[in-house]
Amino acid sequence: MKSFEKKVLCIGAGYVGGPTMAMIAAKCPQYEVTVVDIDERRIAAWQSDTLPIYEPGLLDVVKIARGRNLFFSTDIDEGIRHADIIFVSVNTPTKTFGDGAGRAADLQYWEKTARNIVAAAESDKIIVEKSTLPVRTAKAMGRILNANDKGIRFEVVSNPEFLAEGTAVADLENPDRVLIGSRETEPGLAARKEIVDIYANWVPAARIITSNVWSAELSKLVANAFLAQRISSINSISALCEKTKANVAEVAHAIGMDSRIGPKFLNASVGFGGSCFKKDILNLVYICENYGLYEVAQYWENVVRINEYQEQRFVRTMVRVMFNTVADKRIALFGFAFKKDTGDTRESPAIHVAKHLLAERARVVVTDPQALDNAKKDLAGAGGNVEYHEDPYEAARGAHAIAVCTEWQQYVHLDYRRIFDSMEKPAFIFDGRNILNHKELYETGFSVFPIGRTALKHF
Ligand SMILES: NC(=O)c1ccc[n+]([C@@H]2O[C@H](COP(=O)([O-])OP(=O)(O)OC[C@H]3O[C@@H](n4cnc5c(N)ncnc54)[C@H](O)[C@@H]3O)[C@@H](O)[C@H]2O)c1
Repeated sequence: MKSFEKKVLCIGAGYVGGPTMAMIAAKCPQYEVTVVDIDERRIAAWQSDTLPIYEPGLLDVVKIARGRNLFFSTDIDEGIRHADIIFVSVNTPTKTFGDGAGRAADLQYWEKTARNIVAAAESDKIIVEKSTLPVRTAKAMGRILNANDKGIRFEVVSNPEFLAEGTAVADLENPDRVLIGSRETEPGLAARKEIVDIYANWVPAARIITSNVWSAELSKLVANAFLAQRISSINSISALCEKTKANVAEVAHAIGMDSRIGPKFLNASVGFGGSCFKKDILNLVYICENYGLYEVAQYWENVVRINEYQEQRFVRTMVRVMFNTVADKRIALFGFAFKKDTGDTRESPAIHVAKHLLAERARVVVTDPQALDNAKKDLAGAGGNVEYHEDPYEAARGAHAIAVCTEWQQYVHLDYRRIFDSMEKPAFIFDGRNILNHKELYETGFSVFPIGRTALKHF
């Protein structure tokens, strides 16, 4: 049997664990990489050509290493026993019960994993926090792990993941930076080096940065808070643009050319979604409150509030301009994923839009190239009249309005003359991502309502 240089395990085969480990295995044939999960169906899907998540280019990366040095399994205990280094990439959602409900991170999956590791391990190991965790979690983890009576030592290292869904493969292959935080003790620094050595196989040394463990944990929460803050900032300005006839795209372009501001993350939209931004900011808010930093907590909480305001504003505009009633009107949602190039719908603004429209008794039709299965689950309990169509032309047929909720490029290139002809009149388009050619749509006959710029109306 081939002997590998390092035996790496990842617990949690989700959006982060699967792609990150596939990349490590593809880049480092000298390591054995195993990914385990309690979810048998997920593991089976990772072993097939229909991966459990949609991510451009991911199957190619998986295929390079699968069966060679990349393995997927449900035998978690065996995986733990066998490994030298264990990445933990389980979910850390917002707590829904007890103290901190709706804000704090729910660490039950993380803690169960830690206890699982203690129970199954038979030798010293490095434990890598890959999940996003509240600052100072490593301390609690160290305590749980090292409170064993087997004489086994665990060193906890923080290596938060900065990949973005939709571009995960490119982000992992060519990351802006990899961050590795550890204790600044001799065993801590030795563990840090082990993890640095993994990434050094393909990431330039200048992009591998190290820090103390608390800075690494906190940097992940802060990175997401800053990214979301930029979206909420431009979205708040979009509301002002609509009142003043300024154009938010022109404003974003003008300010983004200032090198101190930069052009990225300045697209006004129906709002941000995804499993991380909201939960990580609320977690940051909760931590600040725990330290008595109420002004700081309030500052960051407003980033989430503006996002909710933006989602509500979008759907209220729809109802208002459609003569204050959408009851029994067919409305097609173009896109349900929280962003293009993913099937992930967690916290997608489309969920809010659909539920609000259903509450107004509209007939909602959802179309999306990758997210229909998730959309069905998200709207399962919502009641009302919902249809799902893969084909956007079918979704729009007989509709009174289209609401663009995801910036899928295929929606830019549809035949909107054909769509217009098949719709009820007056036909409305609400472009929640500002991706369509509004002037052309207007000339085709649509009344067009973008975000942060003047509507083009035929009445
Ligand atoms: N999704 C992203 O874009 C992203 C980016 C950066 C960081 N993160 C962070 O990474 C972490 C994981 O996120 P995700 O999106 O991959 O979550 P996910 O829900 O897709 O995957 C988590 C997996 O962990 C498994 N799991 C839970 N408890 C387990 C246990 N005790 N033993 C074995 N497996 C267990 C679940 O079955 C699930 O498959 C979170 O902390 C998240 O905040 C996510």
